[in-house]
Amino acid sequence: MKVLFIGDIVGSPGRDMVFDYLPRLKKKYKPDVVIANGENAAAGRGITKAIFDDLLRAGVDVVTMGNHTWDHKDIYDFIDETEYLIRPANFSEEAPGLGMTYIERGGVTLAVLNLHGRTFLPPHDDPFKKADELIREANERTPLVFVDFHAEATSEKIAMGFHLDGRASVVVGTHTHVQTADSRVLPEGTAYITDVGMTGPYDAILGMKKEDVIYRFQTNMPVRFQVPKDGRAQLNGIVADIDPSNGRARSIERVLINDDNPFQV
Ligand SMILES: [Fe+2]
Ligand SMILES: [Fe+2]
Repeated sequence: MKVLFIGDIVGSPGRDMVFDYLPRLKKKYKPDVVIANGENAAAGRGITKAIFDDLLRAGVDVVTMGNHTWDHKDIYDFIDETEYLIRPANFSEEAPGLGMTYIERGGVTLAVLNLHGRTFLPPHDDPFKKADELIREANERTPLVFVDFHAEATSEKIAMGFHLDGRASVVVGTHTHVQTADSRVLPEGTAYITDVGMTGPYDAILGMKKEDVIYRFQTNMPVRFQVPKDGRAQLNGIVADIDPSNGRARSIERVLINDDNPFQV
């Protein structure tokens, strides 16, 4: 089973990259399942129902979230009505929505799990323990488990990769918005990358207008960061291939599309 995962979609430039390139990526990689992180899809903060619907129409099967899950209030109206948008599973038990979901393709079921780091981030429940618990639950249905670990610290993400090695098929990091060059299949068969990167403005700072971010670094004065509307954009992702008989990853490949790395058929 081939899975294409698209890193944090930031605002309309990110959404446009998905609409533009997903058909070509599907033709090239023939993924059975497409997953995308949508925590920044609505102008950099959260997601709306209209945007979620657009992403599904464009060919995304499951949307994962992160620390920006609740930033757009729209989500409260639809998160309990869909199985295809998940938020970190180690949020409070009070949180609406699902932390894990399942998608079936040609008789093969993939569990998709979203987790949140807690190093340099709010103190959510233990993501390692939550992963153990939910992978046990998933394994009653399938050995194929995909994990989006939304975390800040590279060490916490690598720790999760090794912690789940041999139990998750794929562990990808998201949140830091810069693709890391460490994609690999770990010794026990888990495909891993520390951060997939982001899909959105290219001449910007993690997807936000560069002038605002530079001003904030220089002055420490509050600025409302905004997603630039115009200019060049990029798409970051990975493609992982999983053996459906045992859930072990066969390979992981980085996808990086921008003016310096043009799409190749
Ligand atoms: Fe993000
Ligand atoms: Fe994030």
